[in-house]
Amino acid sequence: MPLPAPVRSAAEFAFRTAGARFRSSKRVTRWVFGLELTSRERPVLWDLALLALRAELPRAIGDVRRVLEVGTGEVGVLSLVVARALPSLDVHAVDVNPQFVDCAHENAVQNGAQVRFFVSDLFSDVTGRYDVIFSAPPYVPRAWGDAHRHRGGDPECVWDGGEDGLDVVRRLATDAPAHLAPGGRLLIATSDFYHRPDEVRPAFEGYHVESRRPSAWNPTRLWVLTRAPSGDPR
Ligand SMILES: C[S@@+](CC[C@H](N)C(=O)[O-])C[C@H]1O[C@@H](n2cnc3c(N)ncnc32)[C@H](O)[C@@H]1O
Repeated sequence: MPLPAPVRSAAEFAFRTAGARFRSSKRVTRWVFGLELTSRERPVLWDLALLALRAELPRAIGDVRRVLEVGTGEVGVLSLVVARALPSLDVHAVDVNPQFVDCAHENAVQNGAQVRFFVSDLFSDVTGRYDVIFSAPPYVPRAWGDAHRHRGGDPECVWDGGEDGLDVVRRLATDAPAHLAPGGRLLIATSDFYHRPDEVRPAFEGYHVESRRPSAWNPTRLWVLTRAPSGDPR
């Protein structure tokens, strides 16, 4: 039997509050990521996508020379994890939000991680080519986000993926080939909570596509995309 609405709201409130407290604890973050993270605006430092990618990315990136993260977030945590796990790697990271880029740079200094952070709207200010480009882009459908996410105080750039949630995913897939080295890979995270895999897959037309869920309980899905041998996939 469904719970009465007041009980449901109280349970949801308790879950969100306790979950947010847990995820904004610096001690918990240090334990999960091995990093000292300081944010300026967003108290919650990580989510399920970060949790999945933290373990998965260094392995998925493998033995390459140059990587780029697109949409690195306020503390740049994935780039910091990657730079610390693979110290010989040249790690660059961009975000459209200048405050995030400043704060991520401070976190890199604080953690002794070598990452070059800069402001860019996807690839607008990116030059050169990378062996791997990775991203946990905003992928929340706008109507869902309007109803739920703004309550957590996140700016729209963090979650808003447009009407169906896949606008940024599609732009990434379209624009990345010009910035991938020959044989380069594009790694994108989405969430099965918002999209079935067959809804996302058409965005990657022209790529060789592998996708997997690193863990059964976490809805994060990692897409590993390789350019078609002919070069530009489109
Ligand atoms: C879901 S958050 C992920 C952030 C970070 N990787 C994390 O997990 O904490 C998406 C990030 O992409 C950034 N972003 C959104 N649109 C962007 C764009 N057009 N160009 C670059 N970054 C963008 C947002 O500012 C935000 O930091």
